[in-house]
Amino acid sequence: MARLSVNVDHVATIRQARRAKEPDPVTAASLAELGGADGITIHLREDRRHIQDRDAILVRKLVKTKLNLEMAATQDMLKIALELKPDMVTLVPERRQELTTEGGLDVRTHREPLKKIVAALKEANIRVNLFIDPEPEQVKAGHRIDTNGVEIHTGRYCDAKDETTRNKELERIYNSVLLASKLGMAVHAGHGLDYYNVKKVAEIKEIEEFAIGFSIISRSVFVGIERAVREMKELIK
Ligand code: PXP
Repeated sequence: MARLSVNVDHVATIRQARRAKEPDPVTAASLAELGGADGITIHLREDRRHIQDRDAILVRKLVKTKLNLEMAATQDMLKIALELKPDMVTLVPERRQELTTEGGLDVRTHREPLKKIVAALKEANIRVNLFIDPEPEQVKAGHRIDTNGVEIHTGRYCDAKDETTRNKELERIYNSVLLASKLGMAVHAGHGLDYYNVKKVAEIKEIEEFAIGFSIISRSVFVGIERAVREMKELIK
């Protein structure tokens, strides 16, 4: 059964809207675990628009499952990761103007700097995933720089406006997942997944873990976070 890592950034987004003390993403992380989350994901962005350094430190202390830190591949973030010691880092591209992470990393173009950051994290016993678009060339490039695994970007599948595009995107995901798995890499998937579109992707048995945030936190406003997590877990079973 695939694991579910719950991204709690959006709880911090609500808090930051008022620069207030609540709702606290740290509390959300603990409640998500009570609901059955197999891991917690936070994205410490360079502009600190949602998760703050204090959140990262407290979540690291409290999380009983696995902590996945999403971050840009920069020296500043590398330093923070080495101090924080999450169980895993997912390297993502970051643009200040974007609402959320828009595309995957271009591993082919940024091979050398990425390789160094991957090596430094692995040296500190932190697993590394690269967040990439479902493209075979990116999977192969990731393999060449010795990443532990990849997280396949499901955003285009989730955003597809018609059945034909959706099926085409699902096939791209499927092919990339199979290739990554054949190359011996850990395969995760995420971005834009919700209670309606997750099932088809969850049928791909080579995907070991899903990173899901927005849809779970949105549902939790109405049903509470434990139930929202439980219901998502049921769907990816
Ligand atoms: N994976 C990565 C790399 C992300 O950047 C995000 C968004 O922070 C997610 C997964 C989760 O996406 P969503 O919030 O749309 O479920």
